[in-house]
Parts: sequence; structure tokens; C-alpha cells
Amino acid sequence: MLSAIINRRSIRKYKSVDVPRYMIEEILQSGILAPSSKNRQPWKFIVVTGDAKKDMLAAMEKGLIRERELPFLPESAQYLGGAEYTLKIMEQAPVVIFIVNSLGLNIYSSLKPEERIYEICNAQSIGAAIENMALTASELGLGSLWICDTYFAYKELSDWLNAEGELFAAMTVGYADENPYTRPRKRLDDIVEWRDCGTKILD
Ligand SMILES: Cc1cc2nc3c(=O)[nH]c(=O)nc-3n(C[C@H](O)[C@H](O)[C@H](O)COP(=O)(O)O)c2cc1C
Repeated sequence: MLSAIINRRSIRKYKSVDVPRYMIEEILQSGILAPSSKNRQPWKFIVVTGDAKKDMLAAMEKGLIRERELPFLPESAQYLGGAEYTLKIMEQAPVVIFIVNSLGLNIYSSLKPEERIYEICNAQSIGAAIENMALTASELGLGSLWICDTYFAYKELSDWLNAEGELFAAMTVGYADENPYTRPRKRLDDIVEWRDCGTKILD
């Protein structure tokens, strides 16, 4: 198995050390090498560092405060505390990469089955790109965190991003200041069903 797959962990504490630009570019380059449905490549990246982070963090904070009073995601209220913690991680990380679904359909609209499939296929494609990026960060000796708590501040961050398409996720990148344990995984025996169709698989 690739060592990056084994070594990657979600990193939530970062050293206050800048990340060289060539490393960020390599991470992004690995993202766009991901497969995508119909080769649509439905991604766009917005890299936020330095002073540009201030307004972005303010937008996320504004969204989380609004979410407490006027929730966009009322059924996910139990995760709001976690989102506030994620904001602190974004504050600390030297780099935050926003991943936009450039072909995203309006989150407020109800979708026809074909539109939903289009959305699911694009989401899988972007997920592949993000995983490539996390693995490349790990290979470069960097830590990363894949973030979707940004949905709690969906409107505020979308306004701040002002990008064509839908806010999809964010990823923090930086030098890790922690060494988290591997979170337990489900056992293959519990989640894999082998169906024997007569093909020989060697033991
Ligand atoms: C789609 C997705 C969204 C995630 N969103 C967040 C998030 O907003 N905040 C956070 O702290 N972790 C987030 N995570 C990280 C997961 O909590 C983490 O991957 C999981 O607990 C397994 O730990 P590991 O990545 O160290 O193996 C997210 C992961 C994925 C794949």
C-alpha cells in the first residue's frame, strides 16, 4: 500500500511556519490529475493565505453566529460546536484551500434524477481530487484537514468567495504540530461481501 495512504491523518494543529508555494502547487497539480466523470474536471481552487485569511475567517465566523440564531441546517445543530472548533483550526493553519464545484447545481433547488446523478458524479470526481491532494500533502511531509463544516457558513463563505459554482469543501494545509493516532476503521469482514461467480482468485 502507498505510504502516503498509511501515514495520512487529519491534522488539526499546525506549526506557525509558512508552506513553500511550490508545495501548494504540487498539491493542486495532484488534485487535477484525479479521474473525473466524463472528464468534466468540475473543480476550481481558491488558495487563501496570509492577510487574505482575515476576511475569510470573519465570513465563516459570521456564518456560525448566524447559524446559532437563524439556522440554515437546523437538523445538524449538534455539529455546530464542532464547526466552531474547525474555524479555530482554519485560523491556525497557514494555508486554506477552498474547493469549488464549478458545475455545481443550486443547493436550494430540488433536483430531477438526472441532475442528481450529474451532481453525484461530479461530487465523486472532486472527492478524488481532494484525496489526491491530502495524500500529496502527506508525501511532502505536510499535514492537512478535509473540511465540510464550511456548509454551516455556506452563504457567508460563498459571498466571500464570489466564485462561479458551488462551495464544495475546504482543506487546511501546514506543518503538523501533532501526531494523531489512526482512528479505528470498520473491519473488512464486516463490510465486504464476496460473491463468487466462478472466477479463480488465488489465496
Ligand atoms: C468529506 C469530509 C469532511 C470532513 N469535514 C471535517 C470538518 O469539517 N472538520 C474536521 O475537523 N474534520 C473533518 N473531516 C475529517 C474527518 O473527521 C476524518 O477524516 C475522520 O475522522 C478520520 O480521521 P483521519 O482522517 O485522521 O483518518 C472531514 C473528512 C471528510 C472526508
